[in-house]
Amino acid sequence: MSEAYVITGGQPLRGEVHVSGATKNSALKLLAGALLAPGTTTVHRIADIKDMRWFGEVLERLGVRVDWEPGVVRVTVPEMLGYEAPYDLVSKMRASTAVLGPLLARMGRAKVALPGGDFLGPRPIDLHLRGLEQMGADIKVVHGFVEASCDRLKGTRITVMSNEYPSVGATETLMLAAVLADGRTVIDNAAREPEIVDLATFLQKMGAKIDGAGTHTIEIEGVDELRPVEYDVMPDRLEAATYLFATATTGGEVTVRDMRPRHLDIVLETLEQAGRTLEIGDDWVRITAEGRPMAVDISTLPYPGFATDLLPMATTMLALADGTSIVTENIYDSRYFHVDELARMGANVRVERHYCVVRGVHELTGAEVRASDVSAGAALVIAGLVARGRTQVADIIHIDRRYENLEGKLSSLGADVQRVGAPVPA
Ligand code: EPU
Repeated sequence: MSEAYVITGGQPLRGEVHVSGATKNSALKLLAGALLAPGTTTVHRIADIKDMRWFGEVLERLGVRVDWEPGVVRVTVPEMLGYEAPYDLVSKMRASTAVLGPLLARMGRAKVALPGGDFLGPRPIDLHLRGLEQMGADIKVVHGFVEASCDRLKGTRITVMSNEYPSVGATETLMLAAVLADGRTVIDNAAREPEIVDLATFLQKMGAKIDGAGTHTIEIEGVDELRPVEYDVMPDRLEAATYLFATATTGGEVTVRDMRPRHLDIVLETLEQAGRTLEIGDDWVRITAEGRPMAVDISTLPYPGFATDLLPMATTMLALADGTSIVTENIYDSRYFHVDELARMGANVRVERHYCVVRGVHELTGAEVRASDVSAGAALVIAGLVARGRTQVADIIHIDRRYENLEGKLSSLGADVQRVGAPVPA
């Protein structure tokens, strides 16, 4: 059975906390990029999280040697790579599909299990596949696998559009494929997330020619070969925001260090609207929170909008707000699993299709709850920190996918959070 957190709530958070590198949402894609060049690539600031370990296994199955030291992953990529990413790993972690572009670009062949849907609803990769086909790949979906093959991929113009929003993963897949393609690729309606800029910066260091990352149009001139590099992954903006929402909810004063405040512009604005005081430095933010938060409406959008992955944590804060807030999810079909769990702790939240109405209450009370995904898990931990009494958050394996030592970092801020071997009766 998965481990659980046991939290005794009621302490305001105080002190300083350091943010790790964006391992889940950036470093995994950088390490997929490392496949593009034989030799040893080293990435620093790596958090020791479940997704990194699983991705290491994917790389090993492709014939890559993976060496770990605290905070550092070194991958040694052979001339001849394997080509298969198996279902047992892809089903745990859909980011494994990031190897598709590099395998096609390097080996002309890839067999990658198709990830299914998850707690966030259906999560197709049709845009990744359509873009690769436009670059000349032959793609079949057989027995649950994407089987792709090509001679050299060819640069072309591709629009990455699902509903009306860009796709982060498809933009990354096409960047990873286009850097070694023949000629110029233009990716229109590209995602603008900071992780896209991080990937472009990494690939440029390897020798790739990329313009426009961070805007809606990315232009890539294919090169014949790339070289291995040494690189520091960007700070994890979602982890940084987690400590800010935690403090905004429990009260207290916390300085979050080693972050990039400009990646969180809209989050910082939201916290100020909720009545929290912020002091903002170059690579830190100090938050001071007294009394109940104020109600604020939130609507998720692709970057630079409010990140969908932060919606559950914002909901916990608003569950205690003075007033009623409307929280709208625009990216995923199903992002409200945490709401039923919050209700078990006394929150008053009504879900209406893709938005919910959060009527602030004066207190939450500890209960046994369960993490369904990483962000829902973090939201329930924050609820536990502020709730009266004891909260047990089960299935924290989901939390371990993004956060290294969340309990240690929160405990250093004065919280009472303990990891227990398996859920135990209250
Ligand atoms: N979509 C399609 N077709 C595609 C690709 C995406 O319809 O081919 C749809 C998805 O179904 C979804 C929307 O487009 O509704 C957004 O998907 P996107 O491709 O942008 O997301 P992703 O690359 O799969 C990354 C993060 C997610 C984060 C989203 C949105 C990683 C490993 N994952 O996923 O993070 O929610 O971008 O910002 O980078 C998390 O960290 O827990 C997490 C789920």
